[in-house]
Amino acid sequence: MIARVKKHLVPVIVLVFACAVVTPSSAQTFTKEVAPIFNKSCASCHHEGTVAPMSLMTYKDARPWARAIKERVLMRDMPPWHLDKTVGIRRYKNDISLSDRDIQTIVKWVDAGAPEGDLAAMPKPPTFASEDEWFTGRPDLLVTTNDFVMYANGPDWWIDQYADMTLAEDRWIKSMEIKPSNRRIVHHAVVYALEQNPPAGTPETGIQLNEYAVGKYGNVFAENTGMLLKAGTRLRFDMHYFAIGSEQHNRTTISFKFYPKGFVPKYQVRSVPIRNIPNDELEIPPNTVVRTDGYFRLQRNARIDSFQPHMHMRGRAMTLEAIHLNNTTEILSSVDHFNFNWHVNYIYADDAAPLLPAGTVLHMIGIHDNTAANPHNPDPTVWAGFGERSVDDMLQVWLDIVYLDDAEFSRLVEERKTKALIH
Ligand code: HEC
Repeated sequence: MIARVKKHLVPVIVLVFACAVVTPSSAQTFTKEVAPIFNKSCASCHHEGTVAPMSLMTYKDARPWARAIKERVLMRDMPPWHLDKTVGIRRYKNDISLSDRDIQTIVKWVDAGAPEGDLAAMPKPPTFASEDEWFTGRPDLLVTTNDFVMYANGPDWWIDQYADMTLAEDRWIKSMEIKPSNRRIVHHAVVYALEQNPPAGTPETGIQLNEYAVGKYGNVFAENTGMLLKAGTRLRFDMHYFAIGSEQHNRTTISFKFYPKGFVPKYQVRSVPIRNIPNDELEIPPNTVVRTDGYFRLQRNARIDSFQPHMHMRGRAMTLEAIHLNNTTEILSSVDHFNFNWHVNYIYADDAAPLLPAGTVLHMIGIHDNTAANPHNPDPTVWAGFGERSVDDMLQVWLDIVYLDDAEFSRLVEERKTKALIH
């Protein structure tokens, strides 16, 4: 009998010790532990004057949202970054995700009743320029859509708007930035180029140039790197609007800065879509989870600069693999909790961007979830197929690719090896 009691005592003692060890670090306060995380990972969107529903800059701003914050960060729903961080390439230039430790800190803070803490410990708040500024600098060309009128009440509206460019000759883009005139009703905007004579294989919907969402301030290409904008191109603005209780107007503008006339950058960035070609079909029966595959064989040596999955409301996951020449496969990136509301472009860190020789096959795996378990699913009882409407679905990954000749490719591979040795 005594022996049994003793046995039970052992775990109890361990527990007490565990608590004693954890207690000091679990006293998380807003000013000391939480505010630095919010300033780093939330404030760029959650500050006064943006479309985000609230500011998270001060204790007073953040306190009422504590429960919602805990939930969103635990689900890795906020900040919007949907990669499975346990596989593939780990380093991205625009990574805004929270570390497991950050999440723990926030959760402990909320669980402790979201205390404010010592005011003196509050870090200096970051400052943000006016949303009306062009963050990429004075533009060379502005292209604006016609006025769009959004109803006061009703469901979100996804719509294509078009605009003609006035560009007399081809120009090399150095940077791009998109701004809606009325940020309060625009969730996102993605701009596509519709060239007059597009190369074979270009989707009818155009080639992706850039995307806008709150907290995102344009794209600047690296030194001697750019994208070619052809004279006579039309632009398609893929817009996602939401209703805010009164009728609203919006025009969206994309700004371009170009390299000087006659200058041809050494590295051309091409936006390359991979779809499930050749059949390019999507069959998503009711109440099912469907996997669809697509392949793309690199005809030339390539560096892949970014990865951006595109699916609609039933999209749940997408993985990009490289099938190497020696027949081994490697996961490059995998999104495991896709969210159609966010068009996140995952930009590889300079020394992590995959360098792949000609002949490598890129393999895209898409998962669509047409069951009730998918919270974004508008209706699990209907069949869905490929289409432009948001209630239809899509499966496409956009890659920014730079093609490299053999000499340049070997040079970059060698450079990478040397760096890896030093580290
Ligand atoms: C890239 C911009 C962006 C970043 C970064 C971001 N948010 Fe958000 N957040 C939004 C937008 C826009 C919404 C409203 C639309 C939505 O829910 O998608 C939102 C919604 C929320 C909500 C839900 C509010 C509600 O109405 O219930 C919470 C909570 C939240 N964010 C917390 C955070 C926290 C905490 C961080 C940082 C750890 C963060 N967000 C980072 C843009 C952002």
